[in-house]
This record gives sequence, structure tokens and C-alpha cells, in this order.
Amino acid sequence: MGIREQWQSRWGFILAAAGSAVGLGNLWGFAYRASEGGGAAFLLLYILIVLIVCLPVLVAEMVLGRSTGSSALLAPVKAAGDRWGLLGWLFVIAPLGIGSYYAVLMGWTLDTFFHALFVGLPSNISEAEMFFGSISSGTSVLLGQLVSLLLTAAVVAAGIRGGIERLTRWGMPILFALLLILAIWAATLTGTWEGYRTFLLKIDVNQFFNPSTIRNAFTQAFFSLSLGIGIMVTYSSYLDKRKQLPKEALSVASLDTAVGLLAGMITFPIVMSFGLKEVISGSTVGTLFISLPTGLGTLGVTGRVVAILFFALAYIAAITSSISLLEVPVSSIMDRLGWNRSKAVFVSTTLLFILGIPSAMNLNLLGKIDSIFGGVLLILGGFVLSIFLGWIVPRKFDEDLSECNSNIRVRRYLKFMLRWVSPPIIAFGLIVSVIDLVKNWSA
Ligand code: PFF
Repeated sequence: MGIREQWQSRWGFILAAAGSAVGLGNLWGFAYRASEGGGAAFLLLYILIVLIVCLPVLVAEMVLGRSTGSSALLAPVKAAGDRWGLLGWLFVIAPLGIGSYYAVLMGWTLDTFFHALFVGLPSNISEAEMFFGSISSGTSVLLGQLVSLLLTAAVVAAGIRGGIERLTRWGMPILFALLLILAIWAATLTGTWEGYRTFLLKIDVNQFFNPSTIRNAFTQAFFSLSLGIGIMVTYSSYLDKRKQLPKEALSVASLDTAVGLLAGMITFPIVMSFGLKEVISGSTVGTLFISLPTGLGTLGVTGRVVAILFFALAYIAAITSSISLLEVPVSSIMDRLGWNRSKAVFVSTTLLFILGIPSAMNLNLLGKIDSIFGGVLLILGGFVLSIFLGWIVPRKFDEDLSECNSNIRVRRYLKFMLRWVSPPIIAFGLIVSVIDLVKNWSA
């Protein structure tokens, strides 16, 4: 086997990791979860979970990848022996599960973008629903899914530096610029303050005790950071020993949270300005594809330009995430079977397409798969990871971080959190989430 690929620079890695984190989860997930009743309580819980629980787990995931220099499938075994093989499998199965339906969501995004660009926006809700119905069914949805997977595959096939790093290096700055422009524009709408207040500022204390709000906050935190399922293990396995992982983790988490908030500052004012709150609180994954274009449709040319920019930025965000989802099985196959990159990409992409067909055909099923793969499994993975690096191989954690000279106090703090704080809090989140999910499904 050849020498393992490496990121070209520190920022190359940070932007790629942030690119994985920033995705449809920030633009859609955040909006529809926040509007499911949690409001600002959801937001506060989400931020607390990111700061207290996710940051140490993010560093742990990065340490596992860098210290073993292995793909997600093999890293746990390399670190702690064969008994941990199952964790490696979790790391491969979960991204495959998410990747399968993520491409479907990307297809919807692409269709909506082209429609806004070439045709225009819907003039009322029922027209928007009809349009969404047409792109989320039949051959249309499969085509969108396929095109998105092929684009993703083309980037991943070009390798770490030539593909992933190159795309995220230009994609992420464009994405930030577009977000800023749109957030400034959204600040001028009539419903802006109402939007900020309802979703971002008004705290209903009871929501802190609402199991669905707790589940939404945990899910959003882990999903949005691409945490707990081997993505960061994979990306960090291409890192050298000099990078200070706690700092990189902080940069990634800050960029991701900033994008989530900025996206909220775009979507919520639009929703409030155009009286679409009822539409999105009937929340399914698809509702924002209906409410946003409808709202923007009332603004004539300006609305159309905003829609084009918004869906373009969503697609850039999505593809920098989907490449990370594909890279996990690809690097695992390369490591385990010794295949070359192109062959591994071809097989993994085909698998993702086939796995995604049921979600493409059935919205309800897509939602359910999202709740399991994009929710419960990530939280479970985060729990196991904190136990793994906090208790099973704590020396790896110490050694790796001391090699890159990270501050000793930071290291102690992180280890303390990984051992004593993250596991019980994540276990709590996991139990609440599973119970709430089962309840919702049987209701
Ligand atoms: N973080 C991405 C988003 O917010 O859309 C999606 C994602 C990518 C989730 C990779 C999980 C993951 F492992």
C-alpha cells in the first residue's frame, strides 16, 4: 500500500472538517427542529451540549484518527484490540445510513435551485406543495439523488488534497460570504424581530423538560457537528502530529455553530415575515422546501435572487458534508481490502445509491431513517467514544495530545470531561431520545 495521504495545511483540514459539519443540518435541521416547539430553549440546550459534551468528544474522535492513522473501520481495533471491532462497524454503517438519504435531500435542494433559476418561485402554498411533491417522487427524485452522488463521488475520487481539500478551500469561503449577505438582507424584512424573538430569544422554561426538545437538541448537536460516527476519525487520520487538536476542534465547532445561528437569522425572519410559522411547525424534513420558496415568491425578483443564492449555498454546504460521508466507507475499504481509491469510490457510491432508494420513494421512511441514523446512532457513538478514550485507552489521548504540545490544563480539562461529564450526560440524552422516539412512533 502507498503512503497515507495528508492534508496540505492546517486550514485545509479545518475547512474540510467544518465543511463536513456545516450542511443541510445547519440550514434545515436547525430551523425545523427549533420550530418544533423548543424555540430558544432548544437553542440554549443545543449550545450547552456543544460546549460541554460535544467539544471533548470531538477532540477524542480526532485523537483516535490521528493516533492510529487508520480509517474509521480499523481505528478502534488498532487502538484497543479486536474486541472493539464492533465500534469500527458502527463507524461505517452510520455514515452509510446517513449518506443514503442525505443524497435524496441534496437532490431536492438541487431541483429547487434549478427551478428558482430557470422557472421561478411558487406563488402560493399549494403550488409550492405541488412542486415539492413532484421533485420528491418518481424519477425526478432518483435523478436528483444520482446526480448528487456522482458529484460527491467525483470529488472523493480525486483524493484528499486534490478533491476534498480543494473543494472545501473555495467552497467554504463562498458559503460564508453568501450566508452573511443573506443574513443582512433578512435583517431588513418586516418580520425580522418577530422571527429572532420567537425562535432565537423567547425562552419557555417548560421546554427544558420536554423530551422532544431534549432529543432535538442532542440530535442537532451531534448531527450538525458530524460527531460520533467516525467522520472526524477519518479526516484526522490524514493529519500530522503537529496540529493542536483542541484548537482545531474549537475552530470547527465555532464555525459550525456560527453557521447554524446565521442560517436561523435568515430562515426565521422569512418564515415570520410571510406568516409561514404554521407551515413549518407541521415539521417534516421537507417543509422548508415548501415554506421558504413560498415566502420568497411574494417578493418578486429580489425573492427569486435570494432563493437562488440560498439554495446554491445550501448545495455547497451539502456537498462538503456528503463527501465526508462517502470518505468513511471509501477509506475503510482501502485500508481493509487494499483496493485503490477509484474502485472503493465506485463500490461505495453504488451502495449508497441503492440504500437510498427506499428513502427517496417514501418521505415517511426517510424521516424514520433520519431519526435513527442521524439521531440515536450518533448519540450512541458519542457515548461509546467518550468511554473509549476516557476509560479504555486514556493513555492514547494523553500521548497524542502531549506530542502536539497542547496546553496541559486544556488536556486535563478535556480528559476530566471525557471521563466524568460527557458519559452521564450523553447517556441521559440517549435514553430520553430513545424513549421519546418510540413514543412518537407509537402515537
Ligand atoms: N453535519 C452535516 C449537516 O449538518 O448537514 C451532516 C452530517 C455529515 C451528519 C456527516 C453526520 C455526519 F457524519
